[in-house]
Amino acid sequence: MTRQKILIDTDPGVDDALAILMAHAHAHADVVGLSIAAGNVGLNHTVANGLKLVEVIGADTPVFAGCPSPLVLPAEDAAFVHGLDGFGDTDYAVATRRASSEHAALAILRLSHQHAGELTLVALAPLTNLALALRLDPTLPSRIAKLVIMGGAVTGRGNTRLIPAEFNISFDPEAAHIVFSEWPQFTLVDWEATMAHGVDFSRWDALLAGADARAIFYRSISHKTLLFAQGERREKMLTADALAMAVALDPGIVTKVERRHVAIELQGTLTRGATVVDWEQRGGQMPNADIVLAVDQQRFEAMLATALGASEITPV
Ligand code: RIB
Ligand code: CA
Repeated sequence: MTRQKILIDTDPGVDDALAILMAHAHAHADVVGLSIAAGNVGLNHTVANGLKLVEVIGADTPVFAGCPSPLVLPAEDAAFVHGLDGFGDTDYAVATRRASSEHAALAILRLSHQHAGELTLVALAPLTNLALALRLDPTLPSRIAKLVIMGGAVTGRGNTRLIPAEFNISFDPEAAHIVFSEWPQFTLVDWEATMAHGVDFSRWDALLAGADARAIFYRSISHKTLLFAQGERREKMLTADALAMAVALDPGIVTKVERRHVAIELQGTLTRGATVVDWEQRGGQMPNADIVLAVDQQRFEAMLATALGASEITPV
């Protein structure tokens, strides 16, 4: 089986961390880099978190710092979900390695040439770095085998103060507009799919209960997010980026998908950052997104178990 080359654009972030663990644990995937964005928390923290996670994994994956802010307007972070440092405020020992001196947008372009036609790009953050790379070189999509984006809310059930908007899109709508309007075809894993594929808390606890170093580290950094989810009276643990990564690593887990045109609202007082889907295909624009509507939950959770060294765990 040919090995899949993965480049992850990410704002670690607790669910990003699980996605990054999944990619590194996958038997047939090689992670060629982490391009880091601001989003969940500030860039200084997301870069430090990316470096720390790679150290915990014991990998030599290069880490590239990207843009410290959205393209146009400032945005609120998601520290209330992930902790002030983005990793549960555990005061972990800072990684010894440093980030590359190459900007994330330039690294995305260089790696797209180095691995032309072979790269799966998984976008788990606000799309600032990807938009910049597109502006620097509009031919980028021609060299990327597959783009999977975690973002949006395809029927308006978002997760930010603007009801229909999801965080990654809402944090930098102009960047999302550039990517959605200039990337011919991508896979979209949105917040509504995330809500449909939560993990029971008992299963979640079992997945994190192991003695594997990854499980121990992840248990510590995800505790605040678990308390936030339970405080929100959620019935399950929602892990958006892990779901998107599962789809990127194993497209065969997708059980329902619709190809539609998706655009980004930039002006709406109540709707800025919304993902507007032409469900009835009345707009006459070429569909640009394969919208994932459902996946095989058991296969998804098996990938979580592998990422945490917890395979064969059964719920308590
Ligand atoms: O809305 C969920 C997305 O926003 C995830 O990528 C999470 O990490 C945050 O960035
Ligand atoms: Ca993220």
